[in-house]
Amino acid sequence: MSRIEQRPLSGEAKDRYVQGLFAAIAPKYDLLNSIISFNRHKAWRRFAVGKALLKEGDAALDVAAGTGDFSIELAKSVGQNGEVVAVDFCAPMAGVGRRKTSAHSNIHWSMGDAMSLPFASNTFDCATIGFALRNVSDAPRAISEMVRVVKPGGRVISLEINRPVSALFKPFWSVYFYGLLPGIAGLFGGKRDAYTYLPASVKRFYTRQELTQIMMDAGLRDVKVYDLTMGVVCAHVGVKI
Ligand SMILES: C[S@@+](CC[C@H](N)C(=O)[O-])C[C@H]1O[C@@H](n2cnc3c(N)ncnc32)[C@H](O)[C@@H]1O
Repeated sequence: MSRIEQRPLSGEAKDRYVQGLFAAIAPKYDLLNSIISFNRHKAWRRFAVGKALLKEGDAALDVAAGTGDFSIELAKSVGQNGEVVAVDFCAPMAGVGRRKTSAHSNIHWSMGDAMSLPFASNTFDCATIGFALRNVSDAPRAISEMVRVVKPGGRVISLEINRPVSALFKPFWSVYFYGLLPGIAGLFGGKRDAYTYLPASVKRFYTRQELTQIMMDAGLRDVKVYDLTMGVVCAHVGVKI
């Protein structure tokens, strides 16, 4: 293998790569999420959805919805009189999501790009993006789009893997996340390169403070950051001005 370091993909090349990567792992995505997160991923999503302060009858948007776990949590919050729109640009991921959420008549699926959301401005009471901001080729633009489609006073939420805050925990995390994880994913049938991309993309992602600034620049106020499980996952929550 060459020792020459490759520059990370950007723009359309990154979008195509990400689309292909998720198409390849879609059938195993849910299983591997449970394994590599020690089943914490459901509690993380529940926490983030709690911060949306949704009411019965509200409308919520789940951007980059994937296999729909976030959408299901949102659907519970808005109830039968409310509506959740799940949007993703990868047909195989959305296909798994559609089947999984078919019992939830208040979840509607739409194919679309996070950076050019196919919805009118000021439509939703909240917009979430879970474990996906890292994957879009222009995260500030995706956040701006989420702000655009949310009503004033509504919430925009990103839940994302981050680097842990505790110095004591960091070495253990590094061994697991950067060293062992691709091999563990491989053992359970995950594509090894997808689970090599995962830690690399976390390394390149914005810091908590940088993402807070991006959200404020996009027109959100009171941006709060919540560290979950020693900060390996981080929820950013802002309110549209
Ligand atoms: C790690 S999965 C997260 C899925 C889901 N939100 C969850 O909580 O499990 C990332 C998802 O982001 C989607 N995605 C990445 N870039 C996107 C974009 N520009 N527009 C729409 N979806 C995108 C992928 O297709 C994939 O389904």
